[in-house]
Amino acid sequence: MTLTNNYDVKDASLAEAGRQRIEWASREMPVVKIIRDRFSREKPFAGIRISGCLHITTETANLALALKDGGADTILCASNPLSTQDDVAAALVDYGIPTNAIKGEDDVTYYKHIDTALSNNPQLTVDDGADLVTTLHTKRIDLIKDIIGGTEETTTGVIRLRSLEKAGELKYPLIAVNDAQTKHLFDNRYGTGQSTIDGITRATNVLWAGKKVVVCGYGWCGRGVAMRAKGLGARVIVIEVSPVRALEAAMDGFLVMSLMEAVKEGDIFITLSGDKHVIDEAHIREMKDGAILANSGHFNVEINIPSLESMASGKRTIRPYVDEYTLADGRRLYLLGEGRLINLAAAEGHPASVMDMSFANQALCLEHLVKNRGKFKPQVYAVPEEIDKQVARLKLDSMGIKIDTLTAEQEQYLAAWQEGT
Ligand SMILES: NC(=O)c1ccc[n+]([C@@H]2O[C@H](COP(=O)([O-])OP(=O)(O)OC[C@H]3O[C@@H](n4cnc5c(N)ncnc54)[C@H](O)[C@@H]3O)[C@@H](O)[C@H]2O)c1
Repeated sequence: MTLTNNYDVKDASLAEAGRQRIEWASREMPVVKIIRDRFSREKPFAGIRISGCLHITTETANLALALKDGGADTILCASNPLSTQDDVAAALVDYGIPTNAIKGEDDVTYYKHIDTALSNNPQLTVDDGADLVTTLHTKRIDLIKDIIGGTEETTTGVIRLRSLEKAGELKYPLIAVNDAQTKHLFDNRYGTGQSTIDGITRATNVLWAGKKVVVCGYGWCGRGVAMRAKGLGARVIVIEVSPVRALEAAMDGFLVMSLMEAVKEGDIFITLSGDKHVIDEAHIREMKDGAILANSGHFNVEINIPSLESMASGKRTIRPYVDEYTLADGRRLYLLGEGRLINLAAAEGHPASVMDMSFANQALCLEHLVKNRGKFKPQVYAVPEEIDKQVARLKLDSMGIKIDTLTAEQEQYLAAWQEGT
């Protein structure tokens, strides 16, 4: 099937601007470039149909171009209503990759775009958050028979897939790209760390120094944000439900307390937990006038926005991505980016250099699925260790960093039990 007009973008005339930004990002994506050059020669995806539900950013465009050069017939849709870069979507269409994504699209359009992406009758799926896979498992089961496998980019998506697997309902093999070390140790930590601060800064222009910043969730993303906020001079409070991670945060030098304690003090609240209603009505009731609320977790459920809406006597958009809610007692709270992941809503998402590793994993895992087609069961698979190591080696090479290797004596020593005191 060849898809030519199966796209929906905001403004096709933005294509040239998008092309330039995609080219700019490619300078910081040397690992994807190496893979793309090999794919161009070897055509591992010749004739393979791929449907991708991803944030439509300059980095995603570089992944999509690598797959295209590898022979794939790829169609894309957005994985979040507010994360699309409209110039990139236009450029992708120009490059011959049908793309269905408009920044600010409503939920109906969002799911219509997923349906269009599935009209490609995919053999491979690339998902970020598992909305594509969920749609396949609920509304388009008929398409699953042709699917070789798929990949999942983020923590929340992997959690959803594992839950599907546990319920015995998962119908095709998926690789949890998020769980590769060269993905979450870098993308979730340093990518989310930097870009979340970037998104909040672009939306508000706040000075971080001296602010009390409350980070909800001290996972890979939360660690990154807490670390970077501290570096900017903020006084960081960490909120956790896991005793081990709370302890880690305390020993990393952060204040740790319950959210009910922190709400009275916090100037900026950032959720990165993958959980629902982490900031709930009871917390909102106690927040001080002027508090800023942002989410950088995958879905816009971490802050109880319906409660905030119902508690508010007034609402206005005071600047782009900043909604001011006035509560009955006169306090004003500021919700950023409609509670959607702020790094992609108000900024450009992760820097290309870190997406280089995430998307190198994506590209190599998709190739792995095709090369080994028929050998997988409907399960959630880990990224093969060899792919993870290869991505790390290529990234180190691109950074000009050389590392040591074990001597034969050391290899033997590390594999043996005999030698002790
Ligand atoms: N913004 C982005 O670009 C971006 C990038 C990567 C991941 N994500 C998303 O960010 C979220 C977090 O990802 P992660 O990799 O850090 O996950 P993680 O599992 O490593 O960490 C989540 C942490 O939140 C804690 N938590 C859960 N419920 C909580 C609650 N009610 N209060 C306080 N803490 C709570 C957990 O104990 C855990 O330590 C996910 O939704 C993920 O998909 C976003």
